[in-house]
Amino acid sequence: MKDIENLKSEFESEISNASSQEALQNIKSKYLGKNGLITKLLKGIKDIPPQERKDYGRKVNELKAFIETHLREKQEYLKEKEIENKLKKEWIDLTVPVKPVFGSLHPITQTLERILGIFRGMGFSIEEGPEIELEDYNFDKLNIPQDHPARDMQDTFYVNKEGYLLRTHTSPVQIRTMLSKSPPIQMVAPGKVYRRDDDPTHSPMFHQVEGLVVNEYANFRHMKFVIEEFLREFFQTQLPVRFRTSYFPFTEPSAEVDIGCVICGAKGCRVCKDTGWLEVMGCGMVHPNVLESCGVDTEVYQGFAFGMGVERLAMLLYGIDNIKLFYENDIRFLRQF
Ligand code: PHE
Repeated sequence: MKDIENLKSEFESEISNASSQEALQNIKSKYLGKNGLITKLLKGIKDIPPQERKDYGRKVNELKAFIETHLREKQEYLKEKEIENKLKKEWIDLTVPVKPVFGSLHPITQTLERILGIFRGMGFSIEEGPEIELEDYNFDKLNIPQDHPARDMQDTFYVNKEGYLLRTHTSPVQIRTMLSKSPPIQMVAPGKVYRRDDDPTHSPMFHQVEGLVVNEYANFRHMKFVIEEFLREFFQTQLPVRFRTSYFPFTEPSAEVDIGCVICGAKGCRVCKDTGWLEVMGCGMVHPNVLESCGVDTEVYQGFAFGMGVERLAMLLYGIDNIKLFYENDIRFLRQF
């Protein structure tokens, strides 16, 4: 009986000192192994005088259970400690900014950011919409009915689902915005658009940014100011800008915006076809039919809209004469930006 007590206190001090899984293993085999101390005690039960045997056996088994429980608990405790230490050592700061080691933004992305940055500065919100669009939003609600010849102005890619197409401009995003928000609205819609068009200055996919302002007082002079301000900011010079009457079904009156040719300094060259002027965007006062198709009260509100091609502006900004260069991913071309 005395041995059992001693063994118990010996075990207690050993286990409290054990600081590794390996130490625990050693303790385990010392007490519970094939030739372990407890194992020996159990084997010796038969040599105990019969009147003490029952009591003695119970004590040994209690000690055995005690040792097993404490080994298990200590093992779990050490395991947790180990994980804790590992986490402390292998801690990674995921918020540290990474320095880019290679690559750069595509010139179209850079141009897009440049455009959006200017409009953000003028307080415009940025809205996006799907590239597979409802025919209703791309045409009908923009005052271009089914049989209207204006549908031919933008050669459309249709998809094999009735009522859907690849959007031919980002104007449907303006429809979506007017349907979901009420005025005042002051937004730009950047994104990819698709037309059946393919030559050195046209690509079947290209990028547009269109803008829309709707409030109680928007007028043509506000529009002129916003567009002139934008163009001078974009090209970083006080360029001549002119507004030429034009036609779009969704605006009335409509205008085409020209800038003095940035390639030849308005003297006349191949790019401006010797006119000294370059056409850069379309614009106009939003047609009342468009506002009404989106539930905007035309007794109270009016608006203006404009739309530009990102590739066209990038070509003029960087002096690039073939739109295909943007899509070929020729590293010699891309390295220049
Ligand atoms: N949606 C027209 C286009 O893609 C551009 C535009 C937008 C013209 C807004 C006028 C007003 O051709």
